[in-house]
Amino acid sequence: LQAIDFNKKLKSWYLNNHRPLLWRQTTDPYKIWLSEIILQQTRVAQGTPYYQKFLDNYPTVFDLANADERDVLRLWQGLGYYSRARNMHFTARQIVNEFGGKFPETALSLSKLKGLGHYTAAAIASFAFNEAIAAIDGNVYRVMSRIFGIKSDMLSNEGKKEFAKVAKTLISQEDPATYNQAMIEFGALQCVPVSPNCSICPFNDSCYAYAFNVQNELPVKAKK
Ligand code: ADE
Repeated sequence: LQAIDFNKKLKSWYLNNHRPLLWRQTTDPYKIWLSEIILQQTRVAQGTPYYQKFLDNYPTVFDLANADERDVLRLWQGLGYYSRARNMHFTARQIVNEFGGKFPETALSLSKLKGLGHYTAAAIASFAFNEAIAAIDGNVYRVMSRIFGIKSDMLSNEGKKEFAKVAKTLISQEDPATYNQAMIEFGALQCVPVSPNCSICPFNDSCYAYAFNVQNELPVKAKK
């Protein structure tokens, strides 16, 4: 499956099937950052009201930087993993104090901020600033491993490198933001972890996992 055909099918699937999630209707890096931090450990249905409530209280990075940490943590109540909120508060202050409230615009510079890993930095850089860099989360590892038959351990450093290398050949240079959203959404809605409905999948004529009936064996996550 050539990258260009893969992209065409993926984009057309996305245009017909994606959910109109709030954070897909903005290019504000602050809002995208918030959504990605929430969605790291929280499902869309549970996270959406928190996303709205958080932005009602702190509409900009300046508002968050000026907030009292106890108030920020109170708003986060119910979501768990409170270090997410503490790191966001810390990083908001850093963005205001060191960068005048302006987010760094590349994945590399974003990944140096506290609480931002490779995935989150790539997501913000592509969604807010159109950087052509692949944002590979758990959904995307699953999609790539199944369609392209990648059997490396997605939790190992070598495995991650291999996925990143393939992703580099796939990502759309013209519209990296839509490519990344589409990969995430395809994994969330179509190429689901258990019993995916491959009979309606646009890639079922070329998918490795479907051909060999190994959907449930991919992606490989070696146990620790
Ligand atoms: N999970 C992580 N990032 C997401 C996004 N941008 N849309 C939907 N689910 C996600």
